[in-house]
Parts: sequence; structure tokens; C-alpha cells
Amino acid sequence: MAQPAVEFGPTPLRVIEGQIPAGLRGTLYRNGPGRLQRSGQYVDHWFDGDGAILAVHFTEAGAIGLYRYVQTQEFQTEEQANQYLYSGYGQLAPGPFWKRWGSQPKNAANTSVLALPDKLLALWEGGNPYALDLETLETHGLDDLGSLKATQTYSAHPKRDPQTSDLYNFGIIYGPRSYIQLYRSDASGQILQQGKVALDRVSLIHDFVLSGPYLVFLMPPVVLKLIPIVFGTQSFSDALQWQPQYGTQIVVVDRKTLKEVTRIEADPWFQWHIGNGFQANDGSVVIDYVRYPNFDTNQWLKEVVSGCPTTPAAGHLWRLRLDPVAGKVVANEQQLDLECEFPITPMAEVGRQHPSLYLSCQSQRLAKVEENFDSVAHFNLETGQLTLATFASGCYPIEPIHVSHPDDPSQSWMLTVVFDGNRDQSTVQIFNAQCLDAGPLCILELPEVVPIGFHGTWRPQ
Ligand SMILES: [Fe+2]
Repeated sequence: MAQPAVEFGPTPLRVIEGQIPAGLRGTLYRNGPGRLQRSGQYVDHWFDGDGAILAVHFTEAGAIGLYRYVQTQEFQTEEQANQYLYSGYGQLAPGPFWKRWGSQPKNAANTSVLALPDKLLALWEGGNPYALDLETLETHGLDDLGSLKATQTYSAHPKRDPQTSDLYNFGIIYGPRSYIQLYRSDASGQILQQGKVALDRVSLIHDFVLSGPYLVFLMPPVVLKLIPIVFGTQSFSDALQWQPQYGTQIVVVDRKTLKEVTRIEADPWFQWHIGNGFQANDGSVVIDYVRYPNFDTNQWLKEVVSGCPTTPAAGHLWRLRLDPVAGKVVANEQQLDLECEFPITPMAEVGRQHPSLYLSCQSQRLAKVEENFDSVAHFNLETGQLTLATFASGCYPIEPIHVSHPDDPSQSWMLTVVFDGNRDQSTVQIFNAQCLDAGPLCILELPEVVPIGFHGTWRPQ
């Protein structure tokens, strides 16, 4: 993480091991902070690194990779000045605090990607998305999806209904009366419907879940102090306070009307990510998520910029079951004892009962605080079997991406990007998704190091 990542143009990727599966055709996109320092100054939080996107096009002629920074207006201004100029999630703009009054944060465009038919969106939950060219990754500019206001935010975790292809997403609108702004878009991304649900507290909600007929939000007992934000005396991250006395509040929304159905009080926890949700035959709503006992994970993510985080923060997979009619929690139990994150389900199972989850995880139960995940895992929820692909010491896989065979539903692959700290090298690795422990089917060499990032997606050919 010490050195800013180096862009590269379209490059045929050398096969180091195995071969690219014959049916794997399409593009892997990944987003994450590519630059964490400028002129010797480090960002104050991992979430403040400038977004850079890796695309790997899998074609008949082989795999072509390219890597580009998202050319946001703020990134270009800081490039020209060669210094940080803007506030961000954990960062404060330089200068006296009164100069920060009313200023807008930098759109880091660094969290995830959404592949639409005619553009790729670089997502960041504090603003509008940026649109890029699907093939070349050229940045086209901010995109309002037809009706987003400049002040509206569009989170980095949209959900696509696999049956209708409709897209659901949200943004938290902060203020004395904070609320969740809800969006439903067609398959092109064009927003067709909006709604809003008032929040009881000014909180941080990073992800949500499509669960059968519902959209469900898990609002943690993290409270944002607004006054230091308004006066520019604290960063957004530093103004977030863990207040467990509030508990977690579960907000259930009807996906058709985008109106609230019920609000349920639960015990306190924090989560960044939800793997999937569905409505069971008995009407209950089941949600699989990665739970932390408190908000120390935010401190770990701040410290990781230095390469040596010291604050322990382990997340574990939990399953929550709700009764949306009675408005109560039926069950909430830990599913795995290994530390994990980035739970995903195959695209075809979003919002529906999922037989399995894919995760990043730690293979050791007592992992070191400073270590990133060393494995990717397949958790078969029907058999309870956990299958790991564990990498060598010093090698770190990124969030797994599941890819279904276009013609054969019995076949699927899991793609990850691995940073090898021993060789200072990054690779794209392809596994049979059903037997990760058999080792990679193919390893492709990337021409430059691609830093560990956040989220990606797969766009079929
Ligand atoms: Fe995320």
C-alpha cells in the first residue's frame, strides 16, 4: 500500500499456470483505492484512497487487462496541485477549519462498480456515481441516472433483481432529519421510482439487502455528530460514535411502494456487508451478514493505511431471522467461527433463498491483527460444509466474485485478484467455484501491482 498504484493500458495477460476455462467470456471489474499517498502525505483512512479500476476482458484471444484511475474532478485538481486539497471520509482538507465550512468532500469513486449495458459506474456512497467506458475505462463524468440531484447519494451496494433486472439502491441523506433515499431503476440504470424513509438517528448504513418482497436496512448504533461536520472541525469518520445503548434498528421496506413496513429494535452490533436475504416459506425474512461486536473495525480500516493496524476487529458470519408481520427478531445466530468479510451470493440468487455464500476469510482462528484475509471460502448452507482456498503466507486474495457458466448452470467459477507481498506481484486467479480447495484452474499475471481493494463485479459477454 506504500506506493501509489501504476496505471496500465490494455495488456494481454500471461498465463502463469493452467488455462482460461473455455466458457469464461466477459469482463471482471474491480474497484479500490489505488493511491493512498501524495507528496509523502498519507490519507487518514483507507476509504479516502483515490479509486482505480481493474478490468480484465476474457476474450477468444485470451485475457486483456487494464487499470485506470477514475478521473474525478477532485482527483484531477489534486493531480495538478500534487497535494491533497479536499476532505473525505476520514480526511480533512488542509488549512484552518473555517475554510472547510460548507465545502463538499472529494468523491473518491473507490468502493464498487456497477456494470450497466452502456457504461460502467464507479460507486462511492457519499455522492453521485461516475460513469466510465466499459471497454477502455475512460472516465465520462458524473452520472445522475436520469434524476439524481447533486446532493443525493447513491450507495456502493446496489442490488439487481435476477428476475426483473430492476436495480434497487439507496443513499443516506444527512441532516437534522436524516433519511434513507430509495431508488428503483430499470436494467439500464435509469431511475424510475424514488422513496424516502426517515431515520431515528444520524447513522452509517453501508449496505442493505433485497429479501423477497422487502428491502431491509440494518441501522447500527453508530451516531454521527453533525456539528463538527458542519463546522469542519472533525472528519466524518472521527465524528461517528459507537453508542450501543441504542441497539441496532432494523428497517423493513416494501420494495414495490418503497414505503416502510416495520421497524424492529435489536441488540447492538455493527456490519458493513450483507451476503443475501430471502423470505422463507413461513413468511419470515432470513438475512446473512458479517457482524462485528462494535465499531472498532472503522479504526482498523484507518490504521491499515500504515500497514500495521493494531486495533483488533474481527467480523463473523451471522444469520438473522425476522418476522416482518409481528415486527420482531425470531433468531440471530453466528454461523461460522472463522473471521470473514465480503459475503456474496451468485447473481441469480440475489433476494432469493441461496444455497451457498462465498467469502473472504482467515484460515486461522487466532489471526494476527495486522493480517489481511488469507483465504477465499465457499460455505454450503445446505450441508454446512466450508471449503477454503488458502494462499501462501504473504499472499492476500481480494473479495471473491462468482461467475456462472453461460450455458451450463452446473458449472461456475470464482475469480479473485491476489496480491503477493513476497514477490510484489498481483495475479488474477480462477477457481472451480464448487471445489476451491482443488487449487486454481488458471493464474494470470498482471503487469503491475493492483492494491487490495473493495468490491467488483462480473459482466457476461
Ligand atoms: Fe462495501
